[in-house]
Amino acid sequence: MRYGEGLLEEIRRRTDLVALVGRRVKLVRKGRVMWGCCPFHQEKSPSFKVENERRLYKCFGCGKGGDAFKWLIETEGLSFPESVEKLAAEVGVELPKWSPEDEAREQKRKSLYDIVELAAKFYEEQLFDAGGREARDYLKGRGLDGAAAKQFRLGYSPSGNGALIKHLTEHNVTQDDIIAAGLARPAEDGRPMRDFFYNRVMFPIGDGRGRIVAFGARALEADAKPKYINTGETALFSKGTQLYNFATARAAAIKAGTVIVAEGYMDVIALVRAGFAHSVAPLGTALTEDQLHLLWRTAPEPILAFDGDAAGLKAAHRAAHLALPHLKAGYSLRFAFLPGGEDPDSFIAGSGPGAMTVLLEAALPLSQLLWRTETEGKDLSTPERRAGLEHNLKEIVDRITDSKIADYYRRGFEQLVFESFKRRSAPADRDGTRYPGRSSTARTSKPGGKFRGDFKPRPLPGSPEAVSASVQSSALVRSGQAGARHAKEMELGRLLVESPEIALAQGESLAVLDLTDPSLDRLRHELLNLAASGSSLEKAGVQTHFTRKGMADLLVRFAGSAVEDPQASFQRAVADLRELTGHQTDARRLLERRKALSQRPGDGRGQ
Ligand code: GTP
Ligand code: MN
Repeated sequence: MRYGEGLLEEIRRRTDLVALVGRRVKLVRKGRVMWGCCPFHQEKSPSFKVENERRLYKCFGCGKGGDAFKWLIETEGLSFPESVEKLAAEVGVELPKWSPEDEAREQKRKSLYDIVELAAKFYEEQLFDAGGREARDYLKGRGLDGAAAKQFRLGYSPSGNGALIKHLTEHNVTQDDIIAAGLARPAEDGRPMRDFFYNRVMFPIGDGRGRIVAFGARALEADAKPKYINTGETALFSKGTQLYNFATARAAAIKAGTVIVAEGYMDVIALVRAGFAHSVAPLGTALTEDQLHLLWRTAPEPILAFDGDAAGLKAAHRAAHLALPHLKAGYSLRFAFLPGGEDPDSFIAGSGPGAMTVLLEAALPLSQLLWRTETEGKDLSTPERRAGLEHNLKEIVDRITDSKIADYYRRGFEQLVFESFKRRSAPADRDGTRYPGRSSTARTSKPGGKFRGDFKPRPLPGSPEAVSASVQSSALVRSGQAGARHAKEMELGRLLVESPEIALAQGESLAVLDLTDPSLDRLRHELLNLAASGSSLEKAGVQTHFTRKGMADLLVRFAGSAVEDPQASFQRAVADLRELTGHQTDARRLLERRKALSQRPGDGRGQ
């Protein structure tokens, strides 16, 4: 324990808690006690009290309460030592240094902070200097103007060696300290000391209190390798334990109730500028356990945003497994997937903040992400493979150390396995395509238990592998023909989302289409169901319906713009799609029909 209780008590005694709380909450005096509406939950009449005498605040509605340190921890996201430092400074209590060595180290750290800050200012100036023109143009090309650059303190490290070293030396910084701050590489092999960063856009990285401790730096050329470099480990900076934009984001995260984790600096900047101030990114590495704990200090369910391609899915899988042993009651993760090949930066630029909101709202809970990564795109059509799935799910559950949570996961997975295999007896074509909107009696009456035929798990409506469909495109875009089909299916999806009434007018041709994209299949299914239930299928109503049912991801995935004659466009797209899939499908249908007639699967082969 760094600070003694006596010292803490002294800080509490000197702190005017009513004034401190009063900065955020309107308080009214009743007798000796001040009352207000609790900032930790929604309420109309005050049940939150603050008492200077007892140095406590307490809400009788939600039960939150504590002292001045707790208040700062809860409302500003500070750590305990940070809350002590902040209050001590405010009330003029001097904090002791804990040992001479610590003090020396702290002294050293202080000077490193100053050096890094000097460097940050230098880079900022360079960006707006004549030599920074190319970097300014680069940023402009990526949608960032001068105001954005100032907000994030972006800078430019000039080309031509030694510029920063020269600048710092003029400010009496020693060569050793420049190296210790990670700003220069030491002399070696007869070469003099060199600037660590040159000819790059500089992204200053702040610590938990917003002091600049390191830099990320991007090359200006599109094909430069490496594209980004970061400050190495220093006394101030350790990339696995800090997050980009953390200091600003955590206050915002407490307000927003969540925190968004993107992969890159540019993503965070785009997110913040689009109104998502509660955004952070790891620093050029995959998320670490330390970072996970930092995130959980700001919000119970951080949302990790990943590219919906194979790499993004893999990264999500990795993060999910990282979290399992650390899950505790109330704390988890959620996963948002961007359309394949997009990151938050490009997605916001292309589709706008509204689409980003929808996408974040559709984020998958951890449990569903795990289910999905275990089942998506996998052929589970034999008893052995199903057993394999159950084995993998058990391994996941075994990694969870909290026994209660592990138990819920185990039961949840059992239910999902049961539900999805049960569904296989529902009507399906041989490739697993359902025929939504049609009476299923004729097909289900086929004899044969679950183990007849294939039994790939079906996507449950709104279920893990069905939600956030953006990822699912990745598996489809492989060969040329698959690519063409995919494009057509996307077009159909866009037409349906833009003009859902098509599903009323052309339900029959929609129902029999052979679709490969599970999200489009789901969209079709929902629309035909709506049509069957007598809905008029006007756009606004349909959109509300989808959002309410947790299928906003479909709206995002197939978001498009209005076309002149949607019905005709739809007919054309259907014809094109039939062209692409036609022969194959007809042959398969024929086989199915024969098989159904003869009840003998071997028949009809050799066609
Ligand atoms: P751009 O939009 O191309 O500027 O990059 P990005 O922000 O989309 O980053 P990308 O998705 O390519 O990578 C995510 C993050 O990984 C970046 O912000 C960096 O922190 C890090 N990163 C990317 N490329 C490199 C690299 O070549 N070296 C290192 N060390 N880190 C990298
Ligand atoms: Mn990017």
